[in-house]
Order: sequence, then C-alpha cells, then structure tokens
Amino acid sequence: MSSSSLRLLVTSVLLATVSVFDVVVAGPVANGALQERHHSHEMRSALPGSWFHTEEGEVHKLFRRQNLDAGGYPAVGSPAWTAAYPSGTPDNTKLPQAWVDKLNAAVAAGTIPNIPQTTVTNGGTVYPNGVQRDSPEVCSADDFVCRSPDDVWDAPNGTVAIGFDDGPLQPSGQLYDFLAANNQKATHFYIGINILGNPDLFNRAYATMGDDIAVHTWTHPYMTSLANIDVLAQLGYTMQIIHDSTGGRLPRYWRPPYGDIDNRVRAIAKQVFNMTAIIWNHDTGDWTGASPDKIKGEIQGWLNGPKSPGLIILEHELSASCVQGFMEAYPLFAQNGWTTTSTATLVSAPGSGPWQNAANNTGPVTGAAVGGVVPAIVTTSSSAPATTTNSTAAAAATSTPKKSRADQTSRPVAMTLAALSGFAALLLL
Ligand SMILES: *[C@@H]1O[C@H](CO)[C@@H](O)[C@H](O)[C@H]1NC(C)=O
Ligand SMILES: *[C@@H]1O[C@H](CO)[C@@H](O)[C@H](O)[C@H]1NC(C)=O
Ligand SMILES: *[C@@H]1O[C@H](CO)[C@@H](O)[C@H](O)[C@H]1NC(C)=O
Ligand SMILES: *[C@@H]1O[C@H](CO)[C@@H](O)[C@H](O)[C@H]1NC(C)=O
Ligand SMILES: [Zn+2]
Repeated sequence: MSSSSLRLLVTSVLLATVSVFDVVVAGPVANGALQERHHSHEMRSALPGSWFHTEEGEVHKLFRRQNLDAGGYPAVGSPAWTAAYPSGTPDNTKLPQAWVDKLNAAVAAGTIPNIPQTTVTNGGTVYPNGVQRDSPEVCSADDFVCRSPDDVWDAPNGTVAIGFDDGPLQPSGQLYDFLAANNQKATHFYIGINILGNPDLFNRAYATMGDDIAVHTWTHPYMTSLANIDVLAQLGYTMQIIHDSTGGRLPRYWRPPYGDIDNRVRAIAKQVFNMTAIIWNHDTGDWTGASPDKIKGEIQGWLNGPKSPGLIILEHELSASCVQGFMEAYPLFAQNGWTTTSTATLVSAPGSGPWQNAANNTGPVTGAAVGGVVPAIVTTSSSAPATTTNSTAAAAATSTPKKSRADQTSRPVAMTLAALSGFAALLLL
C-alpha cells in the first residue's frame, strides 16, 4: 500500500472517530516557495468578465433568520444556536431554498462553469480524462498549477499576512493568549463544525480579540470533488454560523481546504455568496507535524529573501507544535523588517476588511436582516454548558495543498491525534 492510499485509509478511520478525538490529518509535504514557479504560468481564468449582477443586500437576504424579532440571534453556544446547524456533512436536500434558488439562477445564467467533479485519490484530486487542471477553463489551484487572478495569493511588499486555518480547536487557546499579549490581530479561517464545537474560542477570537473571521468550509472536504449543491452547502452553512454569531456580518473571504479550488467552485463562492478565495504563497508544513524548530527555520528562510511579494503563509491552529512554531518565529518578522497584519485586513482596501457588509467588527452592518434588530454581540454564558465544554465535536483536518508536482516523490505523511485527555500520538507513515 502506498503511503498515499494508507493516508486515505487512515483519514477515513480518523474522521469516523471525531466523537472521541480531535482529529488532525495531514497530507504530504508541500513546497515552501510556490510563487516562483507560478509567476510564469499565471493565466486568466475562464470566468465571466463581470459577475452576475447582485443587488446590494441580496447576499444578506440569503442568511436572514426568521426569529430576529423574538430576541435577536441566539446566543453563541446556546442550545438554539447549536440546533440551527448540521452536526456533520450537510444534507443537501434540506438547504435553505434561497441558496438553492440563487445557485440555480446562476447556473441558468451561465455563470457557473460546467467543469466535471474530481475524484479524491492518492491524497489529491483527479479530473476525468480530457479535463486539464491547468487549463484556463479549469484553473485548479491545487498543486499550484494555475493562479486565478480572482484569488488572492500574495501580500503587499514587505508585509506578512497573519492567519491560521482549521480552528477553533483546543490548541487555539494558547495561540490566542500569545496574539493578545503581542497585540497582534489575525485572520481565522474557521471550519464550521469546529465553531459549532468550540463556541467560547470563537467568541474569544471575534468578540474579545476583535480578530478577522473567514470561511474554511463546514467539514473540510476537497471542494472540487463535490457537486454544485454540496459546494453550496459547505460554504453556506459556514457563512450562516459566522453571520449568526457576529450580529449579521457576512464573511468576505474563504480558503479552500488543500487549496482545492477550480473555476466552478470559485464561481459558486463568488456568484452565490460574493466570497473571494485567499490561497497562500508559502507553506510552513506545520500540518505535517513538523517540529517548532523546523517551522521557525522555514519562516526565517523566507524572511531573509526578497520583500516582494509579501508573504501569505499557510499556518494552522490545530496542534501544539503548529502554535509553538508560530510563536517562536513571531519575533523574527519585526527583526527582519517585515510588518505583520491580519490577512483579511492586509489584502483589503483601507477602511474595509473581513466583512462584505460591515467596515469592521464593531461598526454598523449594512443590508441587515429585514425586519430584525441586529443585536449586540452575545457572549456565551453558563446557560449553555453542553456546547461550551464540548470540544468532542471538533472535527478536523488540515489544509494544505499536497506536494507540488516537482515534489511528488515519496515524502513523509504525518498525522496527529490530539485526544481530549491530552493524549497525543504522532504517526509517521
Ligand atoms: C513591489 O516590489 C516590486 C519589486 O521590487 C516592485 O516592482 C513593485 O513596484 C512593488 N510594488 C509596490 C506596490 O510598491
Ligand atoms: C460583495 O462584497 C464586497 C466586498 O468584498 C462588497 O463591497 C459588496 O457590496 C458585496 N456585494 C453584494 C451584492 O453584497
Ligand atoms: C469601524 O467602522 C466604522 C464605520 O462603519 C467607523 O466609524 C469606526 O471608526 C471603525 N472602527 C474601527 C476600530 O476601525
Ligand atoms: C458533544 O458533541 C457530540 C457531537 O456533536 C455529541 O454527540 C455529544 O453528545 C456531545 N456531548 C455532550 C456532553 O454534550
Ligand atoms: Zn484546512
């Protein structure tokens, strides 16, 4: 059995144990310096020249709730809040009709390219014969074969984007202590079911620290392997829980797990939900179980390099070693003359940031739910013990593009299990 197929097997086993463990599964090592290879291969994606016209406030209507008049959004972590979302892979026969209608309208208008779904195999995705992943029509970012100009890949010169994938999870607590102590804002590309399992950590990042929140899908699938309706569900529910938990704010950015995005998936995110993908141009490999020293060493190497473009570094809040590696590297940014800013704020125009419909975490929300009062941020209270203490629902994953093509020879595959008891195992396959 190849390490890749073993990894897939192990992945399935682990995903079946989410009720027992916080599970972290990682794929093969990816290349750290990606932008070099891609400058010369940049190509236009085959997307419509202008997006399907959406009226101001229309996206917000997709997420409005019926019960706003009866006391506003449910408190984050309360039973009503928890009950409002799927506990696992969404049932695509029960999606809000408004989402489905908008997807159908976009398909009918010809703005969602008809690209076949991929099959997940060998730790990556495969298109049917005859479909070229690096063609302008497909423009897959997976394996970095195509950089769509509609995605964000680079930071401005001299800047480092601070952001973390896959939370909120138990190791996030230590990271948030560190960020707060250093007065450093960050962007959290959150997995929906991990928000559902860790409402206190969500509240801490958003409400207490004022950090930026972005979408990393509901259950962390390979998005190009899904049918349109399931892409819709993965993005829609993650937006919904963030919307409901931030007084009606709508995320402006998302990050595809494994960097697995193509023009079909890209178009659904943009046409239906008005979201832009943020990829990355450097990968610490922290998701492989790399040691903090190794993570720090990778980062040091990039900081010594050219300051153009700025760095969008793939980092995770899913294990103690990921967090430790970031904390050890952090002083190097300033020491080497780089400025650090939360990813979503950094790549946005001044005065705008992580939200489509608000300037920031405290300003007014525009296009707010019709007929409803947008409440103040509600923090979790002791009235919601079941979910505030329950991190068993935190599933997981990793985000990372797999190895680059040039890097496809056997590389270590690692996975980490962090059990609630603190038990941790690192298996090198
Ligand atoms: C970033 O740096 C590159 C290379 O030095 C330069 O060509 C470019 O103009 C810079 N961009 C900005 C916005 O200053
Ligand atoms: C789409 O998002 C942008 C911010 O990225 C926002 O300015 C614009 O108003 C949004 N469009 C709609 C239709 O909500
Ligand atoms: C948030 O945005 C509002 C405008 O909507 C602005 O008045 C306020 O100063 C902003 N707050 C911060 C902290 O930037
Ligand atoms: C924790 O969450 C899991 C998954 O949602 C659920 O099955 C379990 O009953 C919850 N445990 C408690 C104590 O609420
Ligand atoms: Zn991820």
